[in-house]
Amino acid sequence: MFSSEGPSLRELATQALSSVERGYDLLAPGFDRTPFRTPDPCLDAVGEALAPLGPFGAGLDVCCGTGAGVRVLGPLCRESVTGLDFSAGMLGTAREAYREQTPEPRWVRADARAMPFDGGFDLAVSFGAFGHFLPAERPGLFAGVRRALRPGGLFAFPIGAPPPPTSPWYWAFAGFDAVMRVRNAVWRPPFVMYYRTFPLGPVQENLVRAGFGVELRPLARFGLRPDGSPRARLVLARAV
Ligand SMILES: C[S@@+](CC[C@H](N)C(=O)[O-])C[C@H]1O[C@@H](n2cnc3c(N)ncnc32)[C@H](O)[C@@H]1O
Repeated sequence: MFSSEGPSLRELATQALSSVERGYDLLAPGFDRTPFRTPDPCLDAVGEALAPLGPFGAGLDVCCGTGAGVRVLGPLCRESVTGLDFSAGMLGTAREAYREQTPEPRWVRADARAMPFDGGFDLAVSFGAFGHFLPAERPGLFAGVRRALRPGGLFAFPIGAPPPPTSPWYWAFAGFDAVMRVRNAVWRPPFVMYYRTFPLGPVQENLVRAGFGVELRPLARFGLRPDGSPRARLVLARAV
């Protein structure tokens, strides 16, 4: 949740009127005190689910921000851990936070839509960033992650079940997305951030087309919905 030590409403508004990259540069110093940083229970659940599939060699956190996923990769990866993000501000905060970790993670400034790696990684993760990609950008994004992985490498990320229309979250997300669409129709640069543009079915299709075999595992600690389906799943996309 937002805290008094996090960014003020004015700072958040300035961020929202910037580009995604510049917006995160501005938000970086206080980012870990906002609800936008992936919460520890989610990181821990993914780490626990991945542990029996490891150990892994080299790990990559795609859109690492201040390093949430790097925290997951640390205990799982024996060779190296790399965080990739296009915000210099976020990378700077991450570098500071993980200075003491051995081996120290590598921080790479790059656009995930133009992945600068070729086959060096065994595990890639991503947390909390897919809302920044338009559906049309997903095939390129996933193809880049596929290219960054060795054959047999794993791309893993959590995905939440969409809230039903009876939930206040359904309307909050729908309202947020509507406001962002209006904002992006009238203001430049665009700030691409949508909550409802990453549905499981089309995402699975994009992954398969990009060269992954896809498996889903429930993240049990988040429980079940009234219809018995999991509230959150881990997507395990294996490079084939
Ligand atoms: C909501 S933050 C999530 C950060 C972190 N993964 C976490 O879970 O706390 C989204 C991050 O994605 C990064 N990002 C968005 N679009 C990107 C792109 N095209 N290439 C690289 N990084 C991007 C932003 O700079 C930001 O650091």
